[in-house]
Order: sequence, then structure tokens, then C-alpha cells
Amino acid sequence: MKTRKIALKIFDQGIEKDFLPKDVWKLTDALDERDRDLARKLVYGTLRFRRSLDETIDLFLKKPNNTPKVVRNLLRFGAYEILFLRVPEYATVNEYTEMAPRRFKGLVNAILRSLARNKEKVDINHSLPLWLYKILKDDLGRDMDLFLEKSLSHELSIRAVKIKRKELKMKLSKVVMLKEMRYSPWGLICSQGQNLKNEAFKNGDFTFQDESSQLVAIALDPKKHENILDACGGVGTKTSHFIQISPISNVFYNDINNEKRDVALSNFKRLGLSPTELWNLDLLKDDVSYLNSKFDKVLLDAPCSALGTVGKHPDVLLRIKPGDIKKKSDVQLEMLERLWNALKQGGTLIYSVCTVTKAETDNVISNFIKNHENAKCVDPFDGRYEFDFNGLGVQLLKYMEGFYISKIVKV
Ligand SMILES: C[S@@+](CC[C@H](N)C(=O)[O-])C[C@H]1O[C@@H](n2cnc3c(N)ncnc32)[C@H](O)[C@@H]1O
Repeated sequence: MKTRKIALKIFDQGIEKDFLPKDVWKLTDALDERDRDLARKLVYGTLRFRRSLDETIDLFLKKPNNTPKVVRNLLRFGAYEILFLRVPEYATVNEYTEMAPRRFKGLVNAILRSLARNKEKVDINHSLPLWLYKILKDDLGRDMDLFLEKSLSHELSIRAVKIKRKELKMKLSKVVMLKEMRYSPWGLICSQGQNLKNEAFKNGDFTFQDESSQLVAIALDPKKHENILDACGGVGTKTSHFIQISPISNVFYNDINNEKRDVALSNFKRLGLSPTELWNLDLLKDDVSYLNSKFDKVLLDAPCSALGTVGKHPDVLLRIKPGDIKKKSDVQLEMLERLWNALKQGGTLIYSVCTVTKAETDNVISNFIKNHENAKCVDPFDGRYEFDFNGLGVQLLKYMEGFYISKIVKV
């Protein structure tokens, strides 16, 4: 009961804000590993399938629009457990009935029991808004199934920083099972539900980062004495990676968002890797002409629809609206245009986005290339991996998360 109550509290915050802040997971700190895992499954799974769960619940309710929020959330959790988890159904029904306000106990009990009896008939399907399903199906074709499969869960990924991956693996093996990433030489993957904010984390031995995101540093390939700009640095994960690989380079961090910059600062401190300067320029509005021809390398890890992260952040689906993808792709192209001048001749720009839509990936790059004779796309990994480079960029969905990397050289 305690675990479900905590999970409901976290879920409720996500639904209220259309966003699940990381610090809400603090609420699960006191739980043991198994219960923490259950809380995560309930929150992530119910968020991921909220749309279809609501449609299913509505079939059983006489007045769906009059259902109080607290009752709806109990029904969503109960329905998710019954349809997706291997918990005995009577236990699920009892738990949520007990948690319901007195005058709704009968309703919650009746609906969940009825759902349990009819669960074979329920078609929960993809639980995406139809407009989005259509875009993704058009863009991904046969890889749509892969996208849906990856949108169900994710593994916890870390990057070894202060110590080598082997040593880190040994050190953490006392608390968690880890497996080495296939493509990133710094990466380890561990089972979910672990609280890894331990001494080794505080010490800066590692940081959290997905494999696709770790590959950005391989594509950018930072070298000694180069001037490098991380133009949308966010919480500084990639900035610190560049400095880790090439400490004698000048890495500049920028992000419009001051809260992210504060998190980045504390990450830099913890990891002992600080950029040369930190800026908070608005890449769309501020005059950036004084940066002309200043950089050997620029990373544009652009704001995007983040659909490649739905497994990790199902709350993305609470926020996305028709028109968002087009708006994002316009911004991405404009950012590329503005950053292009900051690059020296012979320099390299890496464009990356954690998404899978064509509009935000290949189309942005092909539109950009059309207007710039001095821009040439090359394989971001120089043939070192089996990824499919299509002449514009590489989509990593088949190999890890949905994530796109393009490498453009200024010739
Ligand atoms: C995909 S995130 C970057 C994540 C980051 N590279 C990391 O590894 O943590 C995109 C970032 O772009 C920033 N951003 C959005 N619009 C911007 C603008 N007009 N100027 C500068 N940064 C912007 C956001 O604040 C966000 O942190």
C-alpha cells in the first residue's frame, strides 16, 4: 500500500504539471529495491499508457467526466496493474479499493473487478494520439514496431568519468549488476530500480548518460587546443564529456535556461570538469555575430520533440501537441543557420536530437545543406560502426535509443 501511495503521489505531480521532475523520485528513497522498482513501473507504465487506460476506464464509467481526479488515478493504476503486471488481481482490486475515498470504494471495486474479468477483450494498443501515430508510422515504416517496443521501458545508463569503466564496474558490482555498452567505451548499463546516487556518484566517478548521447563525443572528436562550443549545453552532460576526452581544449558551454545552467555547474563541480566559459545566450534572439569563425567544432544538441526518450520520459506524451514537430524543426533550422557562422572554415558542426521524426532529422539537414554550398555531410563515425549513414545523418533507433546525429563540415 505504501509503495502504491508514493507512486500515486509522483504520478499525480506528473499529470498536474505535464512533466515529471527528477527530484520527485526522492520520495522512493526509503523503499527497498523491489518496491522502488514497482513504484517506477507503476508511474512510468501508467504515464506511457494513460491515453488507452483512460479510454478503457471510460467504458466502465457512467459519467466519465464527473470522476474525481483521485478516483481516476486509482483506476488508472489499478487498470495498469491488471493489464500489464503480474500481480494477483484480487490483491490489486483490494489495494485500490482500500485506498479509495469511502463513497467511491464500491465504484473502484466494481470497475476493477469487471476489468479483471474482461481483460482478454481489452485492446490497449499503442496509446499514442492518432495524429502522432500517423506521423511516426509514415516516418518509421517497418521500424514503428521497434519504436513502440523501445517506448515501453529503458535501462539506466552511466558514463565512467574519473575512473576507467572496468574499475567502475568492479566498484559498483557490490550494489548492482552492470553490463558494458557495446558502442561507447565509457558506458555501463544497469538494472532499473537502483538508487545509484551513492559515494561513487558523489565522488564524480560516473554520471548518468544514455549510450546514444555518449556517442556524440565520438562524433565531435574533441582534440587538444581546439575551441569547442556546446551551444545548447543543458545540464552539461556532453560538455563535460568533451573536457573528459580532451582536457587541453577550450570548451564553451551555452544554454538559455538558467536553472539548467545551475545543474550543469554542480555537475561540472562534482566531476571536476569545468568549461572555459559559461554563457546564457538566446541562440534565436541574441546577436551572436561576435562569435564568427571562432570555433573549430560546434555541437547543436537541439531542443526537439524528444520522442526517442518516451521509454525514459513517458511524460513527453502528456505535452506533445499537433504542430509541435513543425515548430521544433523550424527552430532547429534557424539555430543551425545562426551557428554556422560561428564555425571556422574546415570546422565541424555536430547536430543531434533525441527524436525519430523525419522533420526534425533528415529534413532539417537537407534543408540546411540546400542553402549552403560550403556545407558537406560526412559519416559522423567515419565507418567505424555498422550504423546506416544515409548521406545526411545516422538514426540510432535500431541500435539503442531513438537519437539522430549528423556531422557537417565547413569546406
Ligand atoms: C536537448 S536539450 C540539450 C541537452 C544537453 N546537451 C545535455 O546533454 O544535457 C536542448 C537545450 O536547448 C536549450 N535551448 C532552447 N532554446 C534555446 C535558445 N533559444 N538558445 C539557447 N539554448 C536554448 C534548452 O534550455 C535545452 O537545455
